[in-house]
Amino acid sequence: MKIFIDTAELDEIREAISWGIIDGVTTNPSLIKKAVDKRNGKISMEDYIKEIVKTAPGPVSLEVIGQTSEEMIRQGRMLHEKFSSFGEVAIKIPINPSIEEDDRLDFEGLKAIRQLSMEGIQVNVTLIMTPEQALLAAKAGAAYASPFAGRIDDYIRANLGMKRGKDFQKGDYFDYDLLCRAREKKLNEAMENAKSIREIYESRDVNSLVSQGQDNGVYSGVDLIARILRIYRAYGFKTEVIAASIRNPRQVREVAELGVHIATLPFDVLRGMVKHYKTAEGMRRFMDDVVPQYRILFEE
Ligand code: G3P
Repeated sequence: MKIFIDTAELDEIREAISWGIIDGVTTNPSLIKKAVDKRNGKISMEDYIKEIVKTAPGPVSLEVIGQTSEEMIRQGRMLHEKFSSFGEVAIKIPINPSIEEDDRLDFEGLKAIRQLSMEGIQVNVTLIMTPEQALLAAKAGAAYASPFAGRIDDYIRANLGMKRGKDFQKGDYFDYDLLCRAREKKLNEAMENAKSIREIYESRDVNSLVSQGQDNGVYSGVDLIARILRIYRAYGFKTEVIAASIRNPRQVREVAELGVHIATLPFDVLRGMVKHYKTAEGMRRFMDDVVPQYRILFEE
């Protein structure tokens, strides 16, 4: 599995590269703004991005800001032209740039993905929230598809009436297994007195329970990634899946167990992956047990 770092903070990028486990960088306009703002006008955004591209050991994803395919294609070419001489660049295109209910822009992302990919520019399709969107991204020839695991977990919890910041925190693990078992239990209760299969199938209570804690048959962010991988493997798509919007180390483990191609991780999630209470405790014990004769072994 490749690991990308999801940040525009050069210090974080450099530090994580020094650990020897980074294969690429993903950014977005908000991450770049935050990082450049911290430099108090000492460096232009363009020079700052150049520095990221020079520093990264693999592709740096840079996002367009347009909403029509013409704009996105033009901006994608510009970003590629400006920065690809400094290192590897992938262009982030939203799967669907539409903001309003108005659906006229729905297919502009796909058109841009197809065109830029045909020109040999690597496209990273962002804001993927369904397996269906991921299928279209692969069909359009994307190099990478980025499903947003954490945001799907947020969405499912929000639909259950849970508020981020109150009922759960951004980095909290979403225990969808427990949720599935809770749903199962409630369903069994609701089905108990039914006289026929049809009665169960048509029961309002049953249907309301079935629809809770899921998003159109997707049960969590990790489940979203599992389903996308299954589709890509079924057809041999070359598009690599980047597990994005990852919030905690356990999610990283779960997408790794699925064999995801890449996970893009915030600095703090990466830091969390190396920690365990018993590792620190074991370390303390070893250090306490170092006797002088052992120490002498290391004297030059
Ligand atoms: O990789 C996508 C990421 O930048 C969004 O993460 O945690 O804000 O959903 P998050």
